Amino acid sequence: MKQKTVFACQECGAQSPKWLGRCAECGAWNSLVEERPAPEGAVAGAGAAPRYSLARAAGPQLYAEIDTVVAERLSTGVGEFDRVLGGGVVPGSLVLIGGEPGIGKSTLLLQAAAHFAKSAGTVLYSSGEESEHQIKSRGERLGVTPAPLYILAETCLERILEEISRLRPAFLIVDSVQTVFSLKFQSAPGSIGQVREAATQLLFAAKGQNIPTFLVGHVTKDGNLAGPKALEHIVDTVLYFEGEKHHAHRVIRAVKNRFGAVSELGVFEMTGTGLRGVSNPSELFLSERRAGAPGSAVLSCVEGSRPLLVEVQALVSSTSYGNARRMASGIDQNRLSLLLAVLEKRAGVNLAADDVFVNVAGGLTVDEPAADLAVTGAVASSLRNRTVRSGTAVFGEVGLAGEVRGVSHAALRVREAAQMGFTRCVLPEGNCSPDDVPPGIELVGVRTVTEALEGLIDW
Ligand code: TYD
Ligand code: MG
Repeated sequence: MKQKTVFACQECGAQSPKWLGRCAECGAWNSLVEERPAPEGAVAGAGAAPRYSLARAAGPQLYAEIDTVVAERLSTGVGEFDRVLGGGVVPGSLVLIGGEPGIGKSTLLLQAAAHFAKSAGTVLYSSGEESEHQIKSRGERLGVTPAPLYILAETCLERILEEISRLRPAFLIVDSVQTVFSLKFQSAPGSIGQVREAATQLLFAAKGQNIPTFLVGHVTKDGNLAGPKALEHIVDTVLYFEGEKHHAHRVIRAVKNRFGAVSELGVFEMTGTGLRGVSNPSELFLSERRAGAPGSAVLSCVEGSRPLLVEVQALVSSTSYGNARRMASGIDQNRLSLLLAVLEKRAGVNLAADDVFVNVAGGLTVDEPAADLAVTGAVASSLRNRTVRSGTAVFGEVGLAGEVRGVSHAALRVREAAQMGFTRCVLPEGNCSPDDVPPGIELVGVRTVTEALEGLIDW
């Protein structure tokens, strides 16, 4: 029998009967890879019973008759990790953790695994990346104590599933999903067909047997998970390690969570004995700030449900060659262009002949519009070479007409600034509620960008 071959795009999962240089669906170049499904019969096709099923009941159930289960969450033993998960691990949930190599995925999961083995019972840690000995030597550093923690160095999906049915673990870790391959497909491990099959089968195992499962996912060089769309739909929660591995601290962000708030942050520090939660991240992010330097503004932002103070830095210098350069790290490049245009047009700040660099210190990414005022303030401060008034924090969104717009969670932001010892807060007039001011901080409500700059700098 002739085998059918399809070409699948490794970016979006689209299939084509023949090879194309460019995916017709998502437009990615050179992303199609040949994938050969196993011969008929070996695959559970339409009509055939799947190996596992998501539902526990045989057929449809009446809504009113389904019991409400208040899922009891399991703690991972690392407070900050519980926080990003929305308060711990939900039984039967499938969590994907992505991040650059060397950022600490395996370390964090081994710590969690050791904790679960002690508190919940059998844990299966299946690794396709490292041998048992390598994992053991890492465990020694982390101080893993004897507990029912099983390490399986295996890449074959069918073998892993077999071990799951045999051990019936209370908790499962697969490190990484890209190394797992199914015998049903002849394509290479890491290709989209394999990754999707692995994730789907592990999903059935997680849901069907109520095993909370963590999958480690690798990111490609542009920062996406390999086969991102295919995976993100399948799992319940997607967590990403953010920032750089050159810093001692690590930030994990929830980008999707069926059981908690998205964009919730966990902040960790990499120590000689594994990852430790950082209880006061604002202090960490401001620790290296040089107070009294021009081009620096302190932003009070909210990530998930947590207020956080970060330093926004700007450097404005005259352009030496041709076009002025605009570079942003930690904020959106397009947002920066927009803010610079507003500064020029509405506040009369001329930047046409200047290079502008903006950076959020500490490798954090801030994507809320409340960062606008801090960015404009830092840029203006660097341009005029005047420092932002001491003890001042700022937040607020900037509109195209140069107006300052109110943002959410204003009270939370002001309180965090006051707690960190700031004595002034420049904020949107609309967010200025005089009866709810914590002691020791003065609120400066502003309506326009010009007013904000006056509030921030000796203009
Ligand atoms: P690792 O968890 O192997 O990263 P990933 O699985 O994401 O690729 O992280 C390894 C890095 O962490 C490595 O650079 C060494 C460092 N590390 C520590 O600093 N302290 C420790 O206790 C451990 C186990 C690792
Ligand atoms: Mg690893």
